[in-house]
Amino acid sequence: MRESIVTGEAAPGEEREFAGLRPGRFDDYIGQDRVLENLRIAVQAALERNEPLDHILLHGPPGLGKTTLAHVIAAEMGTEIVVTSGPALERAADLVGILTNLRHGAVLFIDEIHRLPRIVEEYLYPGMEDFGIDFVIDPGPHARSVRLELARFTVVGATTRAGLLTGPLRDRFGLSLHLEFYGVEDLARIVKRSSGILGVSVTPEASRTIALRSRGTPRIANRLLRRIRDFAQVARRDRIDELTSIEAMDISGVDEAGLDSLDRRYLTAVIRQYNGGPVGVSAIAATLNEERDTLIDMVEPFLLAEGFLNRTSRGRMATPKACRHMGFPEDGDDGRLPL
Ligand code: ADE
Repeated sequence: MRESIVTGEAAPGEEREFAGLRPGRFDDYIGQDRVLENLRIAVQAALERNEPLDHILLHGPPGLGKTTLAHVIAAEMGTEIVVTSGPALERAADLVGILTNLRHGAVLFIDEIHRLPRIVEEYLYPGMEDFGIDFVIDPGPHARSVRLELARFTVVGATTRAGLLTGPLRDRFGLSLHLEFYGVEDLARIVKRSSGILGVSVTPEASRTIALRSRGTPRIANRLLRRIRDFAQVARRDRIDELTSIEAMDISGVDEAGLDSLDRRYLTAVIRQYNGGPVGVSAIAATLNEERDTLIDMVEPFLLAEGFLNRTSRGRMATPKACRHMGFPEDGDDGRLPL
């Protein structure tokens, strides 16, 4: 993974580090109002009927709280949560082992569910639909089908790429909820909440400034807050005011729009190398020597949401806003010879 402060993706060990900042219940959760409303209704209805919750698919860019929500859902249902991920389930036996050990009503959280191998997915369908798995034993003339009954459980699937899910898998989720980038007010509230948990004093202006540079993503807001806390401690500032937060974020290479060095390299490449586009993402990835998936999952969603980038049938195009932000003329032609 690239070294960057503003990727939405969790760095190794970061999930554990942030665990204390995570909201544990619906009432602690800030933002995503529509998603929360849907979940509250589903949870209350299931509890009143004394039934396990329907399967839930959470989709949206990294760092917006899909894992956190899965834990909140389990806590609200008063059940255990078992956590796994698409790439971790390599063989059907891995999944079967987990399914047969689930207790009634348990939440099975499958992160990156779009990366589940197809053969594993085939076992998940009947598991989710009928709470049973059919095996063929003694293949050949004496083949018999044996059914393994499972406890009723709830799959909470998370994906950054709902479009990559197969139709049959998508159809098995009763609830499919999209997480949006957070607004500045919600992010400022999250920064305030996290600073309280971390025991640092942050002025309202600084919370807002941090929120503005967090590209709509709580994980990034919390990451910036930790870096600024380090800076303030070393600089012997007893509280984080606006100037302290700006100084610290400038050192981190995050600009006032929340863009980091990879975002800026991306936009510069589209504007300078490809005259503003249209250009395919594979070409951009090759130019930057980055993974195509990193650009699609981590870089482009925010640039698109903020109007720095357009996606057309012929490829990606930098917008006039991107040219202005990067200091190029708005037609993308800076009068220099191509690199
Ligand atoms: N920390 C990270 N995400 C949060 C959220 N949505 N609400 C409250 N605290 C958070």
